[in-house]
Amino acid sequence: MTDLIPVLNKDDIEKMVADIAQKISYDYKDSELVLIGVLKGAFVFMSDLIRKITIPVKIDFVSISSYGSNTVSSKKINLTKVIEINIKNKDILIVEDIVDTGLTLTYLIDYLKTFDPKSVKICALLDKYERRETEIEVAYPCHRLEKGFVVGYGIDYAEDYRNLPAIYHLKQ
Ligand code: IMP
Ligand code: MG
Repeated sequence: MTDLIPVLNKDDIEKMVADIAQKISYDYKDSELVLIGVLKGAFVFMSDLIRKITIPVKIDFVSISSYGSNTVSSKKINLTKVIEINIKNKDILIVEDIVDTGLTLTYLIDYLKTFDPKSVKICALLDKYERRETEIEVAYPCHRLEKGFVVGYGIDYAEDYRNLPAIYHLKQ
């Protein structure tokens, strides 16, 4: 049987997203900001985040798969959708659902740097630090978690649960 244990409710998430959007709007007020969302997991977070950002912003998406249907990273990273807009000399903020080992984002940062952006930073809904394997800095974490497999608010397990409006630990 599968159990869903609440971690963050709708109000918690709304407040976290509003706070981070305010920081981003302040820090990038003199920048040409481009948000790059990581599909599919970050699509709900991204759509809430941009509507709370008060400065001009462009958006794009990449799609990266590293998980298959397991709860443990396969560590095989595939870029299945590339960027479509020009990011040369732009300030880039990667919008990710969860940073876990950090391998996906290390790969993505290397890819984005080949287009000569001015800067690349990370905004993550969840910074899950116990299994971190790389030295990446999450400049804008909404919430820090030690461990556990979570779903909801765009985040899936084997493509299920993305539609849940809150975030839950998945206990199997
Ligand atoms: P990393 O390369 O290990 O940092 O993996 C990051 C990616 O793994 C995230 O973008 C998520 O898509 C996925 N992931 C990591 N932890 C979880 C989780 O608890 N639930 C669902 N997906 C996760
Ligand atoms: Mg992901």
